[in-house]
Amino acid sequence: AAVLAAMSVIATSAQADTMGCDDGEIVVKFSHVTNTDRHPKGIAATLLAERVNAEMDGTMCMEVFPNSTLYNDDQVLEAMLQGDVQLASPSLSKFETFTKQFRIFDLPFMFVNMDAVDAFQASETGQAMMDSMQRRGLQGLGFWHNGMKQFSANVPLNAPSDAEGLKFRVQTSDVLVAQMEALGASPQPMSFSEVYGALQTGVVDGQENTWSNIYGQKFFEVQDGTTETNHGVLDYLVVASVDWLDSLDAEVRDDFMEIFLEVTAERNAAVGEVDANNRQAVLDAGGVIRELSAEQRAEWVATMQPVWTQFLDDVGQENIDAAQAINA
Ligand code: LMR
Repeated sequence: AAVLAAMSVIATSAQADTMGCDDGEIVVKFSHVTNTDRHPKGIAATLLAERVNAEMDGTMCMEVFPNSTLYNDDQVLEAMLQGDVQLASPSLSKFETFTKQFRIFDLPFMFVNMDAVDAFQASETGQAMMDSMQRRGLQGLGFWHNGMKQFSANVPLNAPSDAEGLKFRVQTSDVLVAQMEALGASPQPMSFSEVYGALQTGVVDGQENTWSNIYGQKFFEVQDGTTETNHGVLDYLVVASVDWLDSLDAEVRDDFMEIFLEVTAERNAAVGEVDANNRQAVLDAGGVIRELSAEQRAEWVATMQPVWTQFLDDVGQENIDAAQAINA
């Protein structure tokens, strides 16, 4: 045991050295997949690290690994359970193998805007969702916002029938697969870091994402245009492993959580501005944005609405009713 303990000290300090952490500090690796400077998640993760490193200096040391440089979203939760990474914030669509509860967020046109998403998450039901994976070893710490999703393709998308027969990249979510099938399109799950190349080479024809991701990954460069459908939500859960949280002294955990909750509130409040800036940046860079008339939008809603019934058992009518009451 003494030898093992000594080895683990060596491993910890070697790791601490590479990260610029001091001996004895609790090393926290935060792995994510977006850029750092103008993306809601990137900005929030960087701010969190800056504050932890300033305010918990000597106790905790955080390093952020953005742009899928450490793990893709399909690997990061397993890596977390192995103890190789301490924080991550995959989109709610990427927790399929851990819980079905988040499926409500993927249902098309379930929430009218991010305020509705925020209010639902703040409700008792939403807050309980953060504990839904405890038995699988994961604990949600808080929801981080990104924005509403838009569709883009290599042909103009005005009516839902324009998507028929096209191949669309989707995140790894059965609801999103069903959503694309409802449009008569062919869904192709793949990781975020592969999307630009797949659009560029024609492996897929289109994708759905938020303005921050469409601008951040330059998807608009390799698409005919983006249609402002606001048809779905892309939001995140910041997670840690139950084991790691349990390993922290209560005081350390409280200090960390206080900073985390402040950063969460501050950055979630700013998400509308970040979203609008990235939408504008797409236009400034020459990207095409198509807006829908009320009639056109109603057609998209009607085409995708049947997906709700497909997932009713997972999601629960009472949760759908609660979400719809918030929309009203
Ligand atoms: C995606 O895979 O499209 C998104 O979940 C990426 C992200 O983290 O915003």
